[in-house]
Amino acid sequence: LRVAVLISSRGSNMQSLVKACAVENFPAEIVTVVSNNLEAAGLKFAAENSISTRVIDHRDFDDRESFETQLTEYLAELDVDLICLAGFMRLLTADFVNRWRDRILNIHPSLLPAFKGLHVHERAIESGARFTGCTVHFVRPEMDDGPIIAQAAVPILQDDTVDILAARILEQEHLIYPLALRLVADKQIRISGPIAILNEA
Ligand code: GRF
Repeated sequence: LRVAVLISSRGSNMQSLVKACAVENFPAEIVTVVSNNLEAAGLKFAAENSISTRVIDHRDFDDRESFETQLTEYLAELDVDLICLAGFMRLLTADFVNRWRDRILNIHPSLLPAFKGLHVHERAIESGARFTGCTVHFVRPEMDDGPIIAQAAVPILQDDTVDILAARILEQEHLIYPLALRLVADKQIRISGPIAILNEA
């Protein structure tokens, strides 16, 4: 399975995917890392690991559609089967999502459907919830929506700050994104309406 990872900055989830794919017999390979931001720290890591990188800066385009057309052209050129969004901070149009239907994954740092959108950790702490976590899901046109592939829960502790909680969750993100990618690449997951189901062994 040929995978493109889309990032906007740090790229630690991208790194966890690259490392997972480097293990022998992993059913997917990262063929490119794309960033909409030239300054993304993750680009350096990808280049150092001999992965082709490409910057497609949304600010170079007149509108969302032409940006996405360029993105689709590039990904199609490389024969990409699956797109992994990993801290990619652009909303994608319904056209783009439908063009790649069931072939885009995203990771979000909450237990969806709770806490979609931004400032997730702050909102989780303020809610008084005892647990939060992270979710890998298939992407649908609505933001942070789509069939869930994997989740991990972590506790919210009394003295948590946003940074402490974010770090606790990120550790789990780095475990479940490679796991979710493996499940999808191995075709162990099938989509049934709004839900993703794990096939029986
Ligand atoms: C992660 O918390 C991810 O869940 C969210 O943005 C952050 C990106 O971190 N969508 P990184 O760039 O993967 O390090």
